[in-house]
Amino acid sequence: MKNKVTIVGSGNVGASLAQLIAFHGISDIVLYDITEGMPQGKSLDISEACPLWHSASSITGTNDLKDISASDIVVITAGIARKPGMSRDDLLSFNADVIREVSSGIAKLCPEAIVVVVTNPMDVMAQLSRAVTGFHHARVMGMGGILDSVRFRTFVAWELNVTPAVVEALVLGGHGDQMVPLPAYTTVRGIPITELISKNRIDSIIERTRNGGAEVVSLLKTGSAYYAPAAATFQMIKAILFDENCLLPAAAYVDGEFGVSGVYVGVPVVLGREGIRKIVEVPLSKNEKEEFHKSANAVKELVSKTGL
Ligand code: LAC
Repeated sequence: MKNKVTIVGSGNVGASLAQLIAFHGISDIVLYDITEGMPQGKSLDISEACPLWHSASSITGTNDLKDISASDIVVITAGIARKPGMSRDDLLSFNADVIREVSSGIAKLCPEAIVVVVTNPMDVMAQLSRAVTGFHHARVMGMGGILDSVRFRTFVAWELNVTPAVVEALVLGGHGDQMVPLPAYTTVRGIPITELISKNRIDSIIERTRNGGAEVVSLLKTGSAYYAPAAATFQMIKAILFDENCLLPAAAYVDGEFGVSGVYVGVPVVLGREGIRKIVEVPLSKNEKEEFHKSANAVKELVSKTGL
């Protein structure tokens, strides 16, 4: 198969993503991890499902970073996940070391790759990966906005008792507690939810969306979400591999867009084979703008703690 997607980190998000890619048969996969046996075991298991899926994807599990060579896309999921009571930001220093090491390997082994960062705190890790790889910022991005938006879509669909497929939602800002869900850009078959749901109920759906990751963590107790994060990452991979020019929210480097500069933060982007083709600016209300700036400043503060 022509395309090669490497997933760094074969934990729950990495393995679920590998499963989705293999199920859809859209590329070969390298599943890398430092834990011996785990990527090999999971790759073997997924490989053994491929005949049933009529999938021609080849899946290789490895502990040798050299095997990631010449990947078209590298997804970074490696690092530790949250435990109950932890915020995504609590993971900063441990995961920053992981990202530095992996990113310098990517720069050497896959100089042409597009990098999608999933590891939390994601916006900061995306910025760090960009700095360490030295890649153009169009080729390094973070996955968070689709996940936050899909959670918002789910809760809106439940509220109105309609299929989630007809709900679209937009959540911008950092993938953290200060994310900015945008009800005016959240619609059911084109109808803004502000016409369908009371302000009180929208506020509580927004609260649940902001708390979406922590809600799963508090139920699982031993780790964080992975099915929806993997599905959200899969959508980005598909957009890149098939050059879809898909408009979706992702963490991208802003240089004046939305009045913010010099930081990775969730914005609407057009995503295709070359990475982020453009950032799409949309009007925000005064309040939303303030929230967006607050969220971007929170990311900036964390970025400064990494020594960048
Ligand atoms: C979440 C983690 C993966 O939002 O950031 O569930």
